[in-house]
Amino acid sequence: MNAAELYNSYQTKMQKIADVKYAAAVLEWDQETYMPVNGSDKRGCQIATLNEIAHSFLTEEQLGSLLLELNSATGLSSAEKRNAELSLQDYQRNKKLAPEFVRSMSENIHMAYHAWVKARKANEGSIFQQPLQKLIDLKKQQADLLGYEGHPYNALMSEYDKGLNTNIVDTVFTNLQPALSKLLNFIQQRQQVNDSFLYQLYNKDSQWKYGLALLKNIGFDFESGRQDISIHPFTTNFSNADVRITTRIDENSFSNMTWSCIHEGGHALYEQGLPAEYYGLPLGEYCSLSIHESQSRIWENNIGRSLSFWEHNFPLLKTFFPEQLGNINTSQFFKAINKVQPSFIRTEADELTYHFHVMIRYEIEKLLIDGTLTAKDVSSYWNELYKKYLGVIVPDDRHGYLQDIHWSHGSFGYFATYSTGSLYAAQLYAAINNEHIDIERQVAQGNTITIFNWLRANIHSKGRFYTSEELCKSATGEYLDAKYFTNYATKKYQDIYSS
Ligand code: CO
Repeated sequence: MNAAELYNSYQTKMQKIADVKYAAAVLEWDQETYMPVNGSDKRGCQIATLNEIAHSFLTEEQLGSLLLELNSATGLSSAEKRNAELSLQDYQRNKKLAPEFVRSMSENIHMAYHAWVKARKANEGSIFQQPLQKLIDLKKQQADLLGYEGHPYNALMSEYDKGLNTNIVDTVFTNLQPALSKLLNFIQQRQQVNDSFLYQLYNKDSQWKYGLALLKNIGFDFESGRQDISIHPFTTNFSNADVRITTRIDENSFSNMTWSCIHEGGHALYEQGLPAEYYGLPLGEYCSLSIHESQSRIWENNIGRSLSFWEHNFPLLKTFFPEQLGNINTSQFFKAINKVQPSFIRTEADELTYHFHVMIRYEIEKLLIDGTLTAKDVSSYWNELYKKYLGVIVPDDRHGYLQDIHWSHGSFGYFATYSTGSLYAAQLYAAINNEHIDIERQVAQGNTITIFNWLRANIHSKGRFYTSEELCKSATGEYLDAKYFTNYATKKYQDIYSS
């Protein structure tokens, strides 16, 4: 076969695998949104079967030899070459984990998840200790099987963001932490913000309609996606022309729905902007979880929690909730939605203290993976770090180390991407501001199309061509630097808490 024939046969195979994976994703989406409870047993089997089929296609010897041949072929375009190269890397990665290991991992995750649910319910951390330690041992083994340079934790972080390592994260956190602590100190000495009007009765139906209006505003394409309700908001996609997001509505708080809409909307804009011609191929996929999170955070925080955004949007919001917000002005609203308050729960944290929640989990995970810490030490070390960084006393494990689902799912190496995502967002937003000095004015006029187009051109359309670091460099001219976030945050919060 010549290069073109090889590439065609590779593309056909990959697209078939994608068909199976996305079919499983449709079932998963349905499970979280519309499936009746009794459907759950068989649904679990159906999803597992489809995932097994996809996995067997992905690891078959024939694909391996095709990829090797394709990678040594001449005459491919640079995009084709990059697809072939990334697919071979994926294949080799998948081959490093023997089926027995994958099965043992998934069985232990199943057990750990149930232990976690039980431990949370009983508010008894000890129930989760043993299954957690078992998962940690398996994760250490996984790091060894995958291989790494430097810290073993690098192998696990690379699963979510290829090339992300402890050197990069340690450096950004070392720069971020003192700046954030200083800012938090300043804020705590100032008069606190009143956000009580955000917590009153906000009619569900009006919230839903307002959420759809917001999504439309930021450029979500309803011909290529839809929004539904689920317990935990998420984004999934079956191609770039069918992107599903979910939200949740709390009738006693306006905030949950609004920020989840904008956050998931940002993820969705990324998915809708991935190149359609590479369906099923690496260049049709997102770059990394850090970059994915940057796309949600830039809309949620840098734009969605800015004064300019609400200068345009607040009058419209008031027409949805005249009773609740009639006497509130834009500046009061802007301050309320940016209220900073240290707390125990990560998912409820403001955009400043959020990073401490991540730093704590990152530090603990690193020590668990290199063996300095074991599962039985987690609870007390967790509580110690919350006191140190946020000055809060964790009352029990349910408000402490049992709060997140990630560890029970075996997701070690994930948390850092929440912070790096926000840091990338701030750096991208600074670059947009540099190129378009009137961007704030445009946003204040309700015009976010310049931002949308910039992200399409510099991030979305690139797919997985670059690593996060390379993509950041190509889009902003520099590698990841925490100073863009600290500059942004310092200016914003000094303004809010000075007046
Ligand atoms: Co997100």
